Amino acid sequence: MFGRSSRKIDLPSMPATLARIIQITNKSDSTAEQLSKTVMLDQSLSTKVLRLANSAYFGRRNKAENITEAVVTLGFGSVRNLAASASVVEALFPKRMFPGFNWQDMWSHSVTCAVAAESIYSCMAGHVAGNNESAFLAGLLHDVGKLIIARALPQRFLQIVEACRDYNFEMVRAENNILSTTHCKIGFDLAQQWDFPEKISAGIAYHHIPEDACEHEDLARAVHAGNLLAKRLGKNYVVGVPVDVSINDVAEAAGLPPGDINFIVDQVRGKLQQCGELLAWGDRMPCQRNAA
Ligand SMILES: [Fe+2]
Ligand SMILES: [Fe+2]
Repeated sequence: MFGRSSRKIDLPSMPATLARIIQITNKSDSTAEQLSKTVMLDQSLSTKVLRLANSAYFGRRNKAENITEAVVTLGFGSVRNLAASASVVEALFPKRMFPGFNWQDMWSHSVTCAVAAESIYSCMAGHVAGNNESAFLAGLLHDVGKLIIARALPQRFLQIVEACRDYNFEMVRAENNILSTTHCKIGFDLAQQWDFPEKISAGIAYHHIPEDACEHEDLARAVHAGNLLAKRLGKNYVVGVPVDVSINDVAEAAGLPPGDINFIVDQVRGKLQQCGELLAWGDRMPCQRNAA
């Protein structure tokens, strides 16, 4: 894959709870009790796990009363996704605003891409529904390199945003011009450092060039198409820069017929309503709604 591209950037270390959760969820003989014990060490994660298990998304008849029940309802993959999402929001999202860039809209773009990538991946030949947490997580984290740039090199990040606004560049192009690297490469370095499964690292690394992802091309393609669909459905977080993505563009990127994408759009809209719990985390981010 890439050589280490963020040598000049200090990558934050992985929060201890997440490291332990990844370790447990990667082992085939781990039990729900082991996982729930680790979750319980983190109070804010425990609350999130309980709330998500009892949300509309999982449609339980009776309330999950304790963490073990909640972990069983969610499944290992979803607990890992939730822990990783919480870590990204808590450990990586910058606390400051940048003129012309909206963190809330970026979070909503990331959640939409996660849901869309999961739906697209399950629609691709040979992928069974319900086994697509990797696509969700890769979709959620595909742009995590942008957070790293904003935190580590705020002045450069501002220049990148300005270049996007002034020249209508995609961020990946502006990053290449200004930093000689991209959020894809930096996101890949972080995923490696945080010990994410290779599939997820590849989804992040190749979300703009899925054809280069070798054996993980399907997943990278799902994230690539999910990213386009999220752009079509949401607001651009680089304020004032128009994005023009058609259903046909998404279909072509996914390698699926446009009719399937229309079906996926309905599915994504429904799932996003159920993902209110995750989307609401964006309300706690610095907001730059009217910076034109
Ligand atoms: Fe990207
Ligand atoms: Fe994106």
